[in-house]
Amino acid sequence: MSNTIVIFGASGDLTSRKLIPALYRLHKKGRLPDQTRIVGVSRSPYEHDAWRESLRETTAKFAGKSFSAEAWETFAPRIYYQPGDIQDADSFAQLAKFLSEIEEGQPTGRVYYLSTMPQLYEPAIAQLGKAGLASEDNGTRRIIIEKPFGTDLKTAKELNVRIHGVFSEDQIYRIDHYLGKETVQNIFALRFANSIFEPLWNRNFVDHVQITVAEEVVIGRRAGYYDTSGILRDMFQNHLLQLMMITAMEPPAKYESTMVRDEKVKVLHSVRKMTGGDFASQTMRGQYEGYLSEEGVPKGSQTETYAALKLYCDNWRWRGVPFFLRSGKGMSCRTTQIVIQFKNVPHMMFGEKSRVPMGNRLVIQVQPAEGIQLHFETKVPDAGMKTRTNHLDFNFQDSIGGDAMPDAYQRLLLDAVQGDASLFARGDEVELAWGIIDPIIEAWKSPAAPPLHIYPTGLWGPVEASEWMQKQKREWFDVCP
Ligand code: BG6
Repeated sequence: MSNTIVIFGASGDLTSRKLIPALYRLHKKGRLPDQTRIVGVSRSPYEHDAWRESLRETTAKFAGKSFSAEAWETFAPRIYYQPGDIQDADSFAQLAKFLSEIEEGQPTGRVYYLSTMPQLYEPAIAQLGKAGLASEDNGTRRIIIEKPFGTDLKTAKELNVRIHGVFSEDQIYRIDHYLGKETVQNIFALRFANSIFEPLWNRNFVDHVQITVAEEVVIGRRAGYYDTSGILRDMFQNHLLQLMMITAMEPPAKYESTMVRDEKVKVLHSVRKMTGGDFASQTMRGQYEGYLSEEGVPKGSQTETYAALKLYCDNWRWRGVPFFLRSGKGMSCRTTQIVIQFKNVPHMMFGEKSRVPMGNRLVIQVQPAEGIQLHFETKVPDAGMKTRTNHLDFNFQDSIGGDAMPDAYQRLLLDAVQGDASLFARGDEVELAWGIIDPIIEAWKSPAAPPLHIYPTGLWGPVEASEWMQKQKREWFDVCP
């Protein structure tokens, strides 16, 4: 069956920066099924050729070394443009007509990609429904929805209700691009294709888990969005909780979308609810110095650009093991990493009583130094029985011969075209995630909220965050890869 990918918000940044380069790369690798067309929809009055030309330039820029004029020539004819306004029913009638023309009335699988401003998700879905574009009479119809999926539990529920009025759950693909990252999928392989780690992956052997998503960048010109969002909504409700789910979940019987997502959802169900003083003792927030002078940030804004949470999964596997999640803008480097810190040996028999051995640690480098490091104690040669921490280092770039790791959108777009929803968030998952984040956001508005610590850029967030960890007799793994 042929396919059509319809991108709403075609003139936006995501389309030129990520979506078209990802589709181009899939085409170049011969992975995009034959007979796949791409139709861009937005209000700008482009002709097909003018849009292709503008995408040629941006793809050459964003696809980097993988761009070749020759491959582009074979890709470009797959691309079409249809001007249209999401608020206008007539535009959808014209779109329906245009699609059936290029598909020549043949059974075609369609994927609608909502890459518009979030305020337009609901009208776009309603219009697709009214124009009969969700009906599966002549092929499958799927819809991909970008984040943010709502701004809190209430709006996420409302959005789910609206979408379910038009599309069934198995037609809906909610994107979290972190799930498209190779190293995130590799956590499944690491945990469930090896017998050496999984027996240790529980409360008996793990002291704690740290999940860090640090970014060197600051908010730039995104204040309009960012200041109403803050890092809890922007990064924790989706990316950090996704990383936590995959790290903590039970093995599904099969790598299959319902089973994988059932197991992930169970993790969210097990997250202990914070109450009363927990919000002050288990959450930290900060704002980088200079945030208030960024263009468009309102005077005196209390929006957090750094947060750290201590969460517990009250279940058989993880009871009592803290999961420390942190993320910040303006940090010392860009790194996403998951540290599984195993317990220390029960008794250190080699001198140096004051030294806490830092080995017994597995570090999953999600990006940019994609790989895995296993830290352990070794004897210092020629120094009695002194020990020190060393590590084994596996690096994906080395293993794939220097080729760049594929961008997350390649995998996710292809999965959506092929109908595999394993790496997309389900409706209940998104709502449960908001159910964890919302109470923290609420608590941070109350008089008992933990203070907003101002931190200089270029470090690891507020110094108070290190003191907070020290009080818990632990240390952040502050290492740039
Ligand atoms: C986005 C956030 O979802 O993820 C951004 O809105 C953030 O604020 C980005 O910078 C990080 O993604 P990545 O893939 O660069 O780690």
